[in-house]
Amino acid sequence: MKPEEKLYNIFDGIKDKIPFEPQVALILGSGLGNLADKLDIVDVISYNDIEGFPVSTVAGHKGRFVFAHIGDVRVVIMQGRVHFYEGYDINDVVLPVRLMKLMGAKILFVTNAAGGVNEDFMPGDLMLITDHIAKFVPSCLLGKNIDTLGERFPDMSTVYNENLCGIIRENADKTGVKLREGVYLQFTGPEYETPAEVKMSRILGADAVGMSTACEAVAANHMNMMVCGISCITNMASGILKKPLNHKEVQETADMISEKFEKLVISSIRDMSKILG
Ligand code: HPA
Repeated sequence: MKPEEKLYNIFDGIKDKIPFEPQVALILGSGLGNLADKLDIVDVISYNDIEGFPVSTVAGHKGRFVFAHIGDVRVVIMQGRVHFYEGYDINDVVLPVRLMKLMGAKILFVTNAAGGVNEDFMPGDLMLITDHIAKFVPSCLLGKNIDTLGERFPDMSTVYNENLCGIIRENADKTGVKLREGVYLQFTGPEYETPAEVKMSRILGADAVGMSTACEAVAANHMNMMVCGISCITNMASGILKKPLNHKEVQETADMISEKFEKLVISSIRDMSKILG
């Protein structure tokens, strides 16, 4: 089935189950998986109940849309995402983002775990994503353009919305979080990088590397959504500390700082009511 047909079929199948028109779409990365449980949940839709929906194979990733209010803001939250390394077509990887836009979301807020490339960073830091490098994964816009979503040659000069970045910076100050800023580079994974690949990333201008997110931001920008994002620096990228990387360490660091990460995300979304009008 063509990506366009698949997207609209899935949307038709769930639109009657959506409790409200969300304003913000939030994707939870590692360490934020439990954020939704702290909110007053209005409704949930399990990915398993959506025919044809890409479901994550990574242990520890839940799979459901959660609908909740954060302050006055109506939010749809993805508790669990799929990654390109799981073997899905890149169109399937971004299908959930497209679906949340069809539900009505104007803002996409992405979060993830990432390896620190910038040597000033430390594990446990939070990094506001100011730009990305997505050219190491296939573009989700290859093939026939879906004209109903956006134009053939979308501008990418300001993917990460300056007003949203401002709100996140203000809330980091308010909540006492020392916020780093930088460029996120997406590789396919699933293997971690070699030291030479991390050095290359630094030369190219990256501050953090990971295996998600940039493709989602491309899809959202194509659809004219306002985008913002935060990376949790769970480890220094390969070669910096001369020790092997493992998924357990990534998970543990993400869990350790989840509380301040959650606070920052929740208070920032509450303040987005200012620009949603
Ligand atoms: N590299 C790629 N992805 C990651 C890393 C890393 O070092 N840490 C967390 N996700």
